[in-house]
Order: sequence, then C-alpha cells, then structure tokens
Amino acid sequence: MRLTRKRWTICTISLLLIFYKTKEIVRSDEHQEAQLTSILFCYFYSESELSTSRLMVNSSEKALGKSLPIYLQGTEEGWRVNATLVAMIRKDILRFLDAERDVSVVKSSFKPGDTIHYILDRRRTLNVSHTLHSLLPEVSPLKNKRFRTCAVVGNSGVLLKSGCGKEIDSHDFVIRCNLAPLAKFAEDVGLKSDFTTMNPSVIQRMYGGLRNETARDCFLRRLAVLNDSVLWIPAFMVKGGEKHVEGVNELILQRKLPVRMAYPSLRLIHAVRGYWLTNKVNIKRPSTGLLMYTMATRFCDEIHLYGFWPFPKDAKGNLVKYHYYDTIKYRYFSNAGPHRMPLEFKTLKMLHSKGALKLTTSKCPQG
Ligand SMILES: *[C@@H]1O[C@H](CO)[C@@H](O)[C@H](O)[C@H]1NC(C)=O
Ligand SMILES: *[C@@H]1O[C@H](CO)[C@@H](O)[C@H](O)[C@H]1NC(C)=O
Ligand SMILES: *[C@@H]1O[C@H](CO)[C@@H](O)[C@H](O)[C@H]1NC(C)=O
Ligand SMILES: *[C@@H]1O[C@H](CO)[C@@H](O)[C@H](O)[C@H]1NC(C)=O
Ligand SMILES: *[C@@H]1O[C@H](CO)[C@@H](O)[C@H](O)[C@H]1NC(C)=O
Repeated sequence: MRLTRKRWTICTISLLLIFYKTKEIVRSDEHQEAQLTSILFCYFYSESELSTSRLMVNSSEKALGKSLPIYLQGTEEGWRVNATLVAMIRKDILRFLDAERDVSVVKSSFKPGDTIHYILDRRRTLNVSHTLHSLLPEVSPLKNKRFRTCAVVGNSGVLLKSGCGKEIDSHDFVIRCNLAPLAKFAEDVGLKSDFTTMNPSVIQRMYGGLRNETARDCFLRRLAVLNDSVLWIPAFMVKGGEKHVEGVNELILQRKLPVRMAYPSLRLIHAVRGYWLTNKVNIKRPSTGLLMYTMATRFCDEIHLYGFWPFPKDAKGNLVKYHYYDTIKYRYFSNAGPHRMPLEFKTLKMLHSKGALKLTTSKCPQG
C-alpha cells in the first residue's frame, strides 16, 4: 500500500517536472521565434506577427549603442570564394532539400478542388482553385539551371547610396524580395530580376489589396518589370493571404502576363530548417532571404548577398532605414544585446568569412 503511494508520488512529481520543462522549452522557442521572424530582408509570415515586434525598436537601438562589434563590420576586401566549401555545403543541403524540386509545387501534384493544409497552421486548409491550378508550373522553374554567380538582394536601407546597382545587375541570376521598387533606386539596387519573391501581405500593404483600378495598374506596372522571370509566392504558409493570391493569379491570367509563377513546396521550409538545425543554427522560421540563399546553393557557384543588414545603424553609426523604399519602422530583434543579435546575420557573416558566400554591406566599388 505504502509502496504504491510512494510510486504514485514519484510518478506525479515526474509528470509535473516534465510538464514544467516542456513549458519552458516552448516558451524559449517562442522567444527565439519572436527574435528571429522579422529579421532583415524579406519578411515572410503574417502581419500580426510583425505588429508584436514593432515595439522593440527602442531596446535594440539602445543595446546596439553607437558602434558595432568589430566582427560585424565590413570585411569585403580580399574576399575569395572557397569552391571546395561551396561544393561541400551544396552536397550537405541536398540531403535535406533539392531546390530544383522544392522551389515550387507543379501542376501534376494537385488537381482543382484538392485541399492543402497550411504549412505553419495545419488545422486550416486551402482549396486549390482552377485559377491557381492553371498557373502551377509544369516543371520546376529551376530545372537544369546552373549559374556562375548569383545575387540575392535583401531590402535593407543599407543599400541606399551604395551604388551597388551595376554590380548587382552583373550577376548571372538575380533574386529579389517582395516586389520592392527598383526603377527609382536603380543606381543602388539595380534592375535585373530573374526570380522575385512576393508575400501575399505585400498586396495589401503596397498595392491597396488590388481593390481599384489605380492599385491594379500600379501592381501591373511592377509586374511588367519582371517580364518573363519567376514570381515566387509562398501561398501555403499561413491562412490570411489567400484572397490576395487569388486576386494576383486572376489578374495574371486575365492580362496574359508572361511571368512564370512558382509556389514553394509544402516541405521546403521544414527542410531548410532541418538543414540549419543540423548545423546548430536553431532558426525556427527562416526568413525568405535565408531560404533563398539555401536554395541558391543548388544552382549557383558563387552567391553574393546585398541589402542584408538587421541593425538600425551602420558601422559608422549612421541611421539605416529598415527598407530602402519606405519609412516602415520595424524592430530588428527583441530584447537584444550584441550577443543576442540576429542569428541569421551572424551565420551569414561566418559563411562570408569562410568564403562560402559574399555578404556586401557597404558601398560597391565603382567603375
Ligand atoms: C522610444 O523612444 C522614444 C524616444 O527615444 C520615446 O519617445 C518612445 O516613448 C519610446 N518608445 C517605447 C515603446 O519605448
Ligand atoms: C576551403 O574550405 C575547406 C573546407 O572547409 C578547407 O578545408 C580549406 O582549407 C579552405 N580553403 C581555403 C583556401 O581557405
Ligand atoms: C473547400 O471545399 C470544400 C468542399 O468543396 C468546402 O466544404 C470548404 O468549405 C472549402 N474550404 C475553403 C477554405 O474554401
Ligand atoms: C484606390 O485605392 C487606393 C488604396 O486603397 C486609394 O488610396 C485610392 O484613393 C483609390 N483610388 C480610387 C480612384 O478610388
Ligand atoms: C522581356 O523579355 C523579352 C523576351 O525574352 C525580351 O526580348 C525583352 O527585352 C524583355 N524586356 C525587358 C524589359 O527586360
């Protein structure tokens, strides 16, 4: 009898311990997430996630103070690619995902009326419409692609006055994010676009939800710059943007625009996270920029990153806008001190120093 009671006590205590431990893990995960989701360049998730982080600008500014730690400052001179390392990374990443396949779902994977569970919200579903289905590519838009050099262009204000436009356009393949405006900033950001990402929320934020003719014109003019390059829409992440995705798709069909649509596979984000986790980078929700780098390793021999800068000031202490094209003020990291700085950026910086990629955060040499 006494023995049974003792057992029960031990059992209960263990259960309680497990419960608290799990709660703690969940909480620290959440914290990590809050810290990482809004990072840098191409934001990816829902608007509500953004608003919770907006309050944090002040603390990060304070924490950063006037000067950046030395290991974050530009060391772009004398950079050389390490082809051995690039090949190793490509091989490693291929164990988790194959960009050729995972960059987009294809027509044969669905039929109209099929149900898709949102990747980050499994309880909610989306029905594959005829419009969506008719725009799904027949084969991967990256099938058999191989480039000598690629640029992944983030949207940080650090690009302003960089004069990097020409250099960016000189790459064989240019990846851009969120339909950021180009023409007005061409000197600093360039014009060439081969692959452009677009979060559904951009339609609401920058194109008035395509509700009237003015907004639609504006959007169509931006799409015209894409010509027949790839427009990549993460349509299956979270519920909320489906109306916008449908609107965009209808417009593209109606006007017979030559853009080639792509919608990331249902496993892409998990695969990317898996890869970084095995490399001890606990990025719960990789940003679009990191996703693009990870995918680009599959088909680029040299990857150059521009416009990635998650700090409110540059190395010289000048203010840096969050986006180069608007006045939005989001925070860079919650509750941050220099040691809590965005993990993604730190990771990219480390890869830069080893010659796996080139991260340009200062002005580009002219001429
Ligand atoms: C942020 O800082 C400004 C001035 O530095 C201050 O007026 C404002 O109240 C602060 N906001 C928060 C949320 O702390
Ligand atoms: C390139 O990277 C490989 C793998 O990390 C390393 O063994 C090699 O020393 C590096 N080469 C140079 C020139 O840094
Ligand atoms: C998807 O289609 C099913 C059956 O046609 C319907 O019951 C459901 O409400 C639809 N879901 C959405 C999100 O439109
Ligand atoms: C169209 O919508 C935009 C954004 O919602 C608004 O600012 C603009 O006034 C509207 N234009 C017309 C002609 O209704
Ligand atoms: C669009 O693509 C066509 C065919 O590839 C090409 O001839 C044309 O120059 C491109 N236009 C722009 C603005 O890039």
